[in-house]
Amino acid sequence: MKIINWSAEYSVGVAQLDQQHQKIIDLINELADCLCTDEEMATASRVLNEMHNYIIDHFGLEERMLSSAKYPQLAEHKEGHNRFIKKFSHLCAEVDSDRSEAVPHLLAYLNDWWDGHILHEDMKYSPLLAKK
Ligand SMILES: [Fe+2]
Repeated sequence: MKIINWSAEYSVGVAQLDQQHQKIIDLINELADCLCTDEEMATASRVLNEMHNYIIDHFGLEERMLSSAKYPQLAEHKEGHNRFIKKFSHLCAEVDSDRSEAVPHLLAYLNDWWDGHILHEDMKYSPLLAKK
């Protein structure tokens, strides 16, 4: 089940960051397929692990690019990343303990985060990074 479809409106104008954002969408969609059986839950744990590592690397790259471009709202942007990692780790721990309720809860959070962070926060840096 695809809960998010990549579209041109998501592009921040930097190919490498767009590719990573697309990979994050793929992982969210893959997670959305894992809702019921034990086998699916094993996949969900693997996807969450991969997503956690991937997103941390992605945030690191984004922050390095923003820092070298002297992005004025870098501190605020980093805070948003840190808040996400905290909340995401908390929801992943819930998935490990209470599987039935936690995956839909986590998916709803990821879906909101996608729109809020990518469409609003990441778009703010797009004019600065895209012109490089
Ligand atoms: Fe970001």
